[in-house]
Amino acid sequence: MQTIHHITDLRDSVQRWRRAGERIALVPTMGNLHAGHLKLVEEAHKHAAHVVVSLFVNPLQFGPNEDYQNYPRTLEADKAKLQAAKASLLFAPTAEEMYPGGRETITRVEVSELSEILDGTSRPGHFAGVATVVLKLFNMMQPDVALFGEKDYQQLMVVRRMVADLSLPVEIMGVPTVREPDGLAMSSRNQYLSADERKLAPLLYRTLSETAAALRKERRDFERLQAEAVYKLSAHMRPDYVSIRNAFTLMEPDADTRHFIVLAAAWLGKARLIDNIQVTIGAVSDVHGYTNAASVGSR
Ligand code: PAJ
Repeated sequence: MQTIHHITDLRDSVQRWRRAGERIALVPTMGNLHAGHLKLVEEAHKHAAHVVVSLFVNPLQFGPNEDYQNYPRTLEADKAKLQAAKASLLFAPTAEEMYPGGRETITRVEVSELSEILDGTSRPGHFAGVATVVLKLFNMMQPDVALFGEKDYQQLMVVRRMVADLSLPVEIMGVPTVREPDGLAMSSRNQYLSADERKLAPLLYRTLSETAAALRKERRDFERLQAEAVYKLSAHMRPDYVSIRNAFTLMEPDADTRHFIVLAAAWLGKARLIDNIQVTIGAVSDVHGYTNAASVGSR
């Protein structure tokens, strides 16, 4: 596996593959890799000859009071994991390489509407930071396919919308959330939890599962279901939101909605945890209570 820090070297490498007609998959990450990230790499191998992983803690997507400085940086351990996962190339640029003109005045990509709801309300500017860095990575690598986790469902929808709106020639694939045995979604931010908080953390997934089960029983009093979930979370966490949405649009569901996503964010100590569960009702695909709405209509 090559490790590259400069954009010019990156372009040389991917150009060689492209000229040979070989497909390229991109897995963008901020590093501190865990089994969730590695699942994306594993999946990427099914769709391309070369898997490029980017590792960049993107300052543009962190708010002024967020954890940019403290975000875990573990380059050497990450390299070893990617080597074992048979990635072809690791692209690990510096902030100066990515934002040579400084980041205050940079051209930004705004995916309006989708960026202003849910996590966008609590984290103003976050999704513009994500969309901007992802578009830059797409332009540098021109991948055939890029993979994103459903754990960050709103992020996946924002990227899909950007790709559609800007006619980008890349296929976006969503990969189901990888969880710890007790249900907690894997996340680099889980390591901010103390031992006691870690024991409480699965409450988020448990509560989402209960809300999903109620939806499957055709309980459609969404406001009430959300309020019940917030109440349950409040026992041990500081809930930011619990929201039942249309899984295809992320907008409020109506009487005809059959594909739902239940999303939640909650603070536990220093960690802001997010998670979601998809629910499809009244369809054959609901045999397992699960339909992959985010993977439909990939272009
Ligand atoms: P990061 O949090 O490092 O996540 C990188 C990718 O891994 C994202 O697509 C995320 O959804 C996915 N991922 C994280 N935890 C996962 C889990 N438990 N199961 C499955 N997939 C998981 O998301 C980002 O970085 C950044 O915003 C980025 C897209 C790299 C732009 O800076």
